[in-house]
Amino acid sequence: MLAIELRKKYLAFFRQKKHAIMSSASLLPENDPTVLFTTAGMHPLVPYLLGQPHPQGKRLANCQKCIRTTDIDEVGDPTHLTFFEMLGNWSLGDYWKEEAITWSYEFLTSKKWLGFNPEKLSVTVFEGDDNAPRDDESVKIWMTLNIPEERIFALPREDNWWGPAGATGPCGPCTEMFIEVDTVPKCGANCRPGCGCGHYFEVWNDVFMQYNKMADGTYELLEKKNVDTGMGLERTIAMLQGKSTIYEIELVAPLVEKVIEFTGEESLTDEDIRLIRTIVDHVRSAVMIMADDRRISPSNVEQGYIVRRLLRKSIHSADRLGIQQGFMKDLAQIVIEMYRSVYDEVERNRDFIMQNLEAEEAKFRKTLGKALRKFDRILNETGTITGSDAFLLFTSFGLPLEMTRDLAEEKGIKIDMKEFRKEFEQHRAISRTATEGKFKGGLADHSEEITKLHTATHLLQAALRKVLGDRVSQTGSNITKERLRFDFAFDRKLTPEEVQQVEDLVNNVIAGNMEITQTFMMFDEAISQGALAFFKETYGKTVSVYRAGDFSVELCGGPHVEHTGVLGHFKIAKQKKIGAGIIRIRAILD
Ligand code: ALA
Repeated sequence: MLAIELRKKYLAFFRQKKHAIMSSASLLPENDPTVLFTTAGMHPLVPYLLGQPHPQGKRLANCQKCIRTTDIDEVGDPTHLTFFEMLGNWSLGDYWKEEAITWSYEFLTSKKWLGFNPEKLSVTVFEGDDNAPRDDESVKIWMTLNIPEERIFALPREDNWWGPAGATGPCGPCTEMFIEVDTVPKCGANCRPGCGCGHYFEVWNDVFMQYNKMADGTYELLEKKNVDTGMGLERTIAMLQGKSTIYEIELVAPLVEKVIEFTGEESLTDEDIRLIRTIVDHVRSAVMIMADDRRISPSNVEQGYIVRRLLRKSIHSADRLGIQQGFMKDLAQIVIEMYRSVYDEVERNRDFIMQNLEAEEAKFRKTLGKALRKFDRILNETGTITGSDAFLLFTSFGLPLEMTRDLAEEKGIKIDMKEFRKEFEQHRAISRTATEGKFKGGLADHSEEITKLHTATHLLQAALRKVLGDRVSQTGSNITKERLRFDFAFDRKLTPEEVQQVEDLVNNVIAGNMEITQTFMMFDEAISQGALAFFKETYGKTVSVYRAGDFSVELCGGPHVEHTGVLGHFKIAKQKKIGAGIIRIRAILD
C-alpha cells in the first residue's frame, strides 16, 4: 500500500464511522504561543478539546502535517522524521475508550482495511501513579479483542501519558499500538514496546483526554471526555510495505537515492548513512515549513531559526560527504512534487521555497569553511569551546548553536549553554533597546500624522488583499510622521496597474468617509469574523478589533482616526523587493 492509499483509507474508515473530515491545519500554530509548530493533529483542536463546540461536530478526522523539532537528535534512526503526517480521529465528548480501541483494532487488522496480522500487534497502557489510576479499562477492552496479556504492556507516565507540547492543556493516559518486526530481533529479555531497538514499531496512539493540566501542575477533570488519536503515516506505511525503516518508503526513498547519487559512493559507512538521512530529513522539513502561506524564510528568530538550523545542518552534512553547492534544489523539487497534490500551498509557494533555499545555501557556504577553521583554531589554542565561543561562531560566522554543540560533542566537549544564553540575552537586550528607542511598540508616537498613517496602513493591507489575493500578509510595519512602511509576503513587485488599483481602492474608502469602529471580543470570535491578525495572541484573550466598514477588519491596539475622510490623499511612493518573497511599500498621505 502507498501513502496516498493509506490517507484515503483512513479517512474513508472514519467517514463510515460518522466522522467529519477536516483539512490539515497550518504547520504554524495560529492561536498557540507556547510552541513554534503544530506537533500533532490535536494541536489545532485544543480549544475544542477544552470544551468549545467545533463547527464540524463531535467526531472529526484528518491528515495533519506536523513538525517535531524535539525529535531532531533522533533523526537517522529507523523511525524518526522531523516532518511527518499524522492521521487522527477525535471524539469531542462523544465516544470513549471502547469505540476508540475497537475501531483502531478493526482498522489495523481487518482484511478490508490494513490487514495487519493480529498476532503481530502489541499494545501499551498507562500503569498508573499518584496523579491518575492504572488504565484497567483499556486492558479489558484489548483482552476482549483477543490481545493476550503478554502483549499488553503497562508503562509509566513518561511512555503512556500524552499532553500537548506546552506545559498546560488537555491530556490523559494513552494506549499505543506496535507492530512486531520479524527482521529485527528482540534486543534482550527486557525488549518491550518503546525500548527503541526497532523490534516493536509504533504505529498508532489513542489518547484518552479527560484531564486539563493547570499552570500549577495539578490536573483537573475535563467536563467532557475526549479521544485524541494519532497514526504516523510514514511509520504505518513502512510496516505495511514490510520495510524496517521509514527511509525506505516512497515519501522518503527518492530523496535518499538522490543524495546517494550526489555522493557518487558505491559503499556507504554507517556515518555516511547518518549524514544522508540528516540531509534528507532536514531538507524535507525545511521545504514543508517554507511551503506554508505565512512564508517563513531562514532567519535568526523563532520558526525562521529552525528553518535556518535545518538547512545549515544539511549543508554541513552535504559538505562532509563532498556534495557540491546546489544539491538542495534537486531535493526540494522532489519534495514539492510529492506533496503538491496533497497540500495546495506547496505549489503556491514553490518559487519562494526555491529562492530561499538557494540564497541560504550560497550565504552559508561562504562562511562555513571560515567557521569550521575558526572552530578548529579556538579548539587548538584553548583546548575547549566555551559558551561565548559558540556565541561568536553564531553571530560572526552563522554557525547555529546546535551545530557548534554537535561538533564540540564529537570532540568530547560539552558547551556551557548557560554562558551562551547569557551572551545571547545581553545581545538581544542591546538590539531591543535600540529598536524601542526608535519606535514605541511599532508606533513612534500617537500624534495626528502617525495615527492617520496607521489607519492608512490598515486600508493599504485590505486593498492589497483585494487586488493581489488573500495570500498577502503583513510581515512588518513601521510608521514615522512622514510615511508608512509596510512589508508583506509576495513574490514580485506590483505592476503599475496594480499600484493604481490599490491607490484607487484606498482613496475611495477615504472619499466615502467611512467610520472606523473599535470593538472588543474574544480572539477566536474575531478570527471567525475574518479579522486579520499578524502577531501572536493568546487563545481565549479579549482583543481589540478595528474595522472600516466591511473593507478592513484587523486585530489592533490602535489608535486610529474616527473617520477615513480626514486622511487626505493616499499615494504609494515606492516599492522594493527586500528579500526572497518580501515586498516593501512606502506610502504617504498628502
Ligand atoms: N496526540 C497524540 C500523539 O501525538 C495522539 O501521539
